[in-house]
Amino acid sequence: MPNLRKPAAACSVLSMTALATVLGCGLTVTPAKAEPTVEVLHYWTSGGESKAAGALRQDFEAAGGKWIDAPVAGGGGDAASTVLRSRVLAGDPPNAVQLKGPNIKEWAAQGKLAPLDEVAKAENWDAILPAMIRDVVTYKGHYYAVPVNIHRVNWLWVNPQVMQKAGVAIPKTWDEFNAAAEKLKAAGIVPLAHGGQPWQEAGLFEGIVLGMGGADFYKKALVELDPKALTSDTMVKVFDQLRKMRGYVDEGFAGREWNRAAAMLMNGQAAMQIMGDWEKGELTAAGKVPGKDFVCANLPGQSGYTVNADSFVMFTSANADRGAGQKLLAKLILGKKFQETFNVLKGSIPARQDMARDSFDECAVKSMDDLKAAVDSNSVVPSMAHEMAVPGAVRGAFLDVVTAYFNSGMTSQDAVKRLAEAVDLAK
Ligand code: BGC
Repeated sequence: MPNLRKPAAACSVLSMTALATVLGCGLTVTPAKAEPTVEVLHYWTSGGESKAAGALRQDFEAAGGKWIDAPVAGGGGDAASTVLRSRVLAGDPPNAVQLKGPNIKEWAAQGKLAPLDEVAKAENWDAILPAMIRDVVTYKGHYYAVPVNIHRVNWLWVNPQVMQKAGVAIPKTWDEFNAAAEKLKAAGIVPLAHGGQPWQEAGLFEGIVLGMGGADFYKKALVELDPKALTSDTMVKVFDQLRKMRGYVDEGFAGREWNRAAAMLMNGQAAMQIMGDWEKGELTAAGKVPGKDFVCANLPGQSGYTVNADSFVMFTSANADRGAGQKLLAKLILGKKFQETFNVLKGSIPARQDMARDSFDECAVKSMDDLKAAVDSNSVVPSMAHEMAVPGAVRGAFLDVVTAYFNSGMTSQDAVKRLAEAVDLAK
């Protein structure tokens, strides 16, 4: 029911039909305008991320909306997923939730999400969104999420001063990477800034899968879950490389958040980091300049593009203010102005395909060019680590085995065997 402006005492008993009419007592009572409200569950809590989330909040409030912030700290969003599930079980889901990949279709199939077709039609989403993003945010022909951005995951972030000090160049192959890492180690520099959390280890793993196996192998192993690919010699080699990487991280890596690892890169304690381009949002928020203080390079051996698109879903709500809030938020997110402001801060590139490039830095422009080339050569792959490739249970199986391997003396042969078994059980 809409909110009502308070009538005068003498007119306090009103029937719905009387609301918009001139009453005998001489007062006009009209329904108050809805106050568009969203309670936003998100995990953008690091320095760069909160600047970007702040831009969304600011736009929403400037358009007359009420924003109730529900942040859950923890990079990669695993902690936020747990909170979401418990809120849904308690019958009280937040009405706007940062969610992506196959999770969107899973929640939509359960009938929990509000379709966004009305806004999508009015704002022409069919035309402005690239097909690969449309596929992710629709279910049975209806829009159930509004995409915010496109993050590239397969990047190598480099501190050029530190590399120079140790006399090493940016590696283009895994052999070069290992040779550079040994030299850096000998010079007393941590070769790889890393946070020991399952999603970060899965990030290293999927980067090596793409670099060593190429896009077709990646798709077979991490999307189609082909047992032959999962137990192949290539996969054994991937784990061998991951074992080497374990020797390139510092002692204090366990449990470290990704932005703490980014700080190690910034302050010169470490030389390289493998992370998606929210890293750039973090570095630029701290005043660092691309091409000068840091370099964004391809991961060794790769020409493909690992995609991770953030989006928001709207859990159904019977409350008129919340319904209005969801529509307003969905509309603002894909607006041109917001797409520019947000993505410059976040380190990503716009989800819309009709944007000018002028405000974007060299890393973003490279991301745009590389994405186009990868689309043309059919080498865009969805990130497994970032919930774009497989359902949650299968992703969980990957994360469990990869992390167990990284943190133990397990052999690579055992790892592929365990991986194929765990994936088979989970799918
Ligand atoms: C999200 C990014 C976020 C990163 C670190 C990724 O899964 O897509 O938006 O910045 O995790 O928290």
